[in-house]
Amino acid sequence: MVTAYDEPGARYVDAAGVDVILVGDSLANVVLGQADTLHVTMDDMVHHVAAVAAARPSAHVVADMPWLSYHLGVTDAVRNAAALVRAGAQSVKLEGGRNRLEVVHAVLDAEIPVMGHLGLTPQSVLAFGGFKVQSKTREAARMLIDDALGLQEAGVYAVVVEGVPAVVGTMVTEALDIPTIGIGAGGDTDGQVLVFHDLLGLSGRTPAKFVRQYADLGGAITEAVARYRDDVRSGAFPDASETYPTPPDLLD
Ligand code: KIV
Repeated sequence: MVTAYDEPGARYVDAAGVDVILVGDSLANVVLGQADTLHVTMDDMVHHVAAVAAARPSAHVVADMPWLSYHLGVTDAVRNAAALVRAGAQSVKLEGGRNRLEVVHAVLDAEIPVMGHLGLTPQSVLAFGGFKVQSKTREAARMLIDDALGLQEAGVYAVVVEGVPAVVGTMVTEALDIPTIGIGAGGDTDGQVLVFHDLLGLSGRTPAKFVRQYADLGGAITEAVARYRDDVRSGAFPDASETYPTPPDLLD
């Protein structure tokens, strides 16, 4: 799974043959320049899900339910999940475990598939007191596994496990029949997810320990734009091949 937030991003990711495109609320960090995901609204998500869906990807499109879109009651949550589906998502992802089962049941009851998200759930950054690796104690690891089992029992089709020791990623994967998708959860989860901008060197931030950067597109963009700037200043751009010829009527 890889994130995407717009039509070209979704097109490139889909052409690479990934199984799932996540329109993540990491939109806040990597596109909108915010420090955390608490600043993304339903309007933002609908806008970007529609842009991703415009690529008509073969991959499954799952959309994040942003903070407060599923915390104010089940009716509100179902309406918001439906808005993401109407914008082009085929399922929704929401953060939390047994504390969110009522919402998970309601969204599933509206025939919308749900992906879970446990561990270092970014929408809990204030409650966690920062972006900290989770499940570092026996008790916390046991709670995460019980949360995962609760989500599975409720009917979610997969669970993202983020920011936990690799051994916890392994244990939760062994405990579940549904797929786990890890990010900073070691190599034993059934799948992996990375943020588009981190994977491609576009985030402009020091990558987290769990990121592998496969390209330096940020460097390539700056280098290409600098060459364009130089060519404009020197007069090398545009040349005759990039210019419309004079029509016969204007020759004199
Ligand atoms: O918003 C996001 O990109 C995510 C992934 C990090 C799993 O939720």
